[in-house]
Amino acid sequence: MILFVMSGLTIKAPAKINLHLRVKGLRPDGYHELESIFLALDYGDILTFSIAGEDGDLDILTGWKTGRAQENLPQEKNLIYRAVSLFRARTGFKKGLRVAVEKHIPLGGGLGGGSSDAASALLAMNAVSGANLSHSALTEMALKLGSDVPFFLSGGAAWVSGRGEKITPLTVSGLLHDTSSGGLAVVLVNSGTPSGTAEAFALLDRRRAHIVPAAESPSMEKVTGALGGDPRNWPFTNDFLPVFLEDEGVNGTYSRILSQLRETGADFSGLSGAGSTCFGIFADRELAKEAILCLSKQWSFAQLTFPLARESKQ
Ligand code: C5P
Repeated sequence: MILFVMSGLTIKAPAKINLHLRVKGLRPDGYHELESIFLALDYGDILTFSIAGEDGDLDILTGWKTGRAQENLPQEKNLIYRAVSLFRARTGFKKGLRVAVEKHIPLGGGLGGGSSDAASALLAMNAVSGANLSHSALTEMALKLGSDVPFFLSGGAAWVSGRGEKITPLTVSGLLHDTSSGGLAVVLVNSGTPSGTAEAFALLDRRRAHIVPAAESPSMEKVTGALGGDPRNWPFTNDFLPVFLEDEGVNGTYSRILSQLRETGADFSGLSGAGSTCFGIFADRELAKEAILCLSKQWSFAQLTFPLARESKQ
């Protein structure tokens, strides 16, 4: 949602989880073919853009709201900086900008924080500049910034394939929280240790080369068809999980978090992206609240949230 306020333009950058993530073959460009169900969450960062300073200036001020404060990334690695630069190169928009970032999504958590910030920066720049670029022009820029960025231009629930750019929106009203249907609650848990995406893909490739053959993937129809049903029967998997579980050995962090999520009443539990955040899906919101009380005592990040509907931002 984009809001124009006195101090500038404020936009939310939601987190996501991958309810399902199959990593298929390695492509000639070095990326992997993916098949995934992405789900945007009602939890995320908040970005405020204001016009400030001389032409070409870009100040990004980051306030960390969860976990310990992280050092600010160097500009060339900061996806907001790269999104603004790309947008400027494409449109010729030069005015100086100040971006205040309220950072809630943990780094290296598989929740898409950097990617969502980048997508929101593109949407905010499109509004603030008045350039009014089309969705496909924004998608083209988004993919240059990262494989997960195109999804965040619209959010909601989606079947995502290719490198991350082929997006089929899924309308699953039962997922969404509203008083008539109940909806689902999502509990996020992170031990505080970040996971590097490139390293995780490389580890998966090494394991597959020597030990685990890539399994067959069920079709999009089969996987997404299950989404409207009882989460206890979801056939979803994440290809990184068996590799991480094997790597950490018996009673490791992932295995403990996932069993605690199940013990506290999750109807489904899984790993998001290439780690490091695990999630539990709860049909019972009260049970989810109790789970948070218990899990937040033990883990550095435990957050209750809900699926977020797709937004029409164009
Ligand atoms: O696209 P992004 O910059 O987020 O990707 C980070 C790294 O994750 C890539 O350099 C690549 O090693 C790996 N990756 C992949 N296949 C994808 C997405 C990411 O191998 N579809």
